[in-house]
Amino acid sequence: MNLANFIEDHREQHLAELYEFLRIPSVSAKSEHKPDIERAARWVADKLRAAGFKKVEIVPTNMHPLVYAESLEAPGKRTILFYGHYDVQPAEPLDLWTSPAFEPTVREGNLFGRGTADDKGQVHIHLKALESLQQVNGKFPINVKVLIEGEEEVGSVSLWDYVQKNKEKLKADALVVSDTSMLAKGVPSITYALRGLNYYQIELTGPARDLHSGVYGGAVPNPLTILTELFAKLHDKNFRIAIPGFYDDVAKLGNAERKALKSLPWEKKDFEKAVGAPGYVGEKGFSIVEQLWTRPTLELNGIWGGYTGEGAKTVIPSKAYAKFSTRLVPNQNPQKIAKLVEKHVRKLLPKTVICKFELLSSGKPWAAPFHDPIFATAQAALQKGFGKKAVFIREGGSIPFVTQMHDTFKVPCVLLGFGLPDENAHAPDEHIALENYFGGIKAIANFYSDLGTL
Ligand code: BES
Ligand code: MN
Ligand code: MN
Repeated sequence: MNLANFIEDHREQHLAELYEFLRIPSVSAKSEHKPDIERAARWVADKLRAAGFKKVEIVPTNMHPLVYAESLEAPGKRTILFYGHYDVQPAEPLDLWTSPAFEPTVREGNLFGRGTADDKGQVHIHLKALESLQQVNGKFPINVKVLIEGEEEVGSVSLWDYVQKNKEKLKADALVVSDTSMLAKGVPSITYALRGLNYYQIELTGPARDLHSGVYGGAVPNPLTILTELFAKLHDKNFRIAIPGFYDDVAKLGNAERKALKSLPWEKKDFEKAVGAPGYVGEKGFSIVEQLWTRPTLELNGIWGGYTGEGAKTVIPSKAYAKFSTRLVPNQNPQKIAKLVEKHVRKLLPKTVICKFELLSSGKPWAAPFHDPIFATAQAALQKGFGKKAVFIREGGSIPFVTQMHDTFKVPCVLLGFGLPDENAHAPDEHIALENYFGGIKAIANFYSDLGTL
């Protein structure tokens, strides 16, 4: 049987199997989901075995297990390493989901559920592409190593250590990842740059205990007020980050790249529809695409303290907290940026509060040229899956492992994304377009198959 027919004939089966994967609430951020994490790792390992991998390992780490598999039975052929993650973001707020987060549901050509786009659906595309090749040809066309982790959504904390200790094992001619998006519906895309990410938490302590705001208010520092004043000072009126030295190492966009980004079929109206805000802000002097993909940012991600329950409570809190992050671009150094941020935060804070400053996770930005022949093969394979020429894009999100691999092995990293920017990754009603899931299986099967003929 030929590959295209095999894939076509197994659509329902593939989808039913993806449902199983999506039903496992493998939320890496919450310890109550530890058993689900373990179950998801085992599920992935089983499916790798079913796809034809004889060597499959579940590797314990300090946090969540990694799944590793390899098939090195195509002598003389290339070796690729496929990377993805089986963990997902928390599904909260649950009441904003139209159908339950862990009960996959199809509506109007989209499959809804946590992890559909990020990243279980995309990992499954590769599992089924590989299995189809194995079923049709009795073997894989190339040598394949697979690494699926369970900590991506919490910063890939254990991964770096594993990479350092297993360099020979993970060595490959190229890294392949599907954990990004297409530029727009019907526009297959290859991502050649990602932003890096530093994630911080601060705790401010004022009074030694919570205080009655009537008895003490007016004569004591309020850490919550001080925290909001701090964040109000971190951007200037042009929406630039007001931290000395923050932009010092930012790579300037070349004219050729600026032009290439400008000519992409990116639509402002799609962006505005996806965001749905009454108005927009961004760093002055840059297009929206440039702001999203090529400029660093500082975002407040959560702030809490005091009383937020029902009714009123007149209290001056002892403590106030914030989680915030900086997206980084070439050639910013995450460690250097963390120092600059901490120094400036401490400088802005009054002596009336004590500040605990933590860097929770850190990942470097990544941008790489795409002239290696593997990119042309990827482009041709996407054409076979989607009937359209793939464009080369950058993206604003972060995948720590991509930079780690690129730095360690200096190999081409091919990021083929099958999500869409408006598919609500990390939010309620996450979904993936079924046409992209099925098109993805076709494209990836062709990609691996074509790599076998190089
Ligand atoms: N798949 C995303 C990364 C992504 C999203 C890349 C959109 C390109 C476009 C990944 O799962 C993710 O969410 N990464 C986190 C990083 C992290 C260290 C928690 C991110 O970007 O916030
Ligand atoms: Mn992801
Ligand atoms: Mn994610």
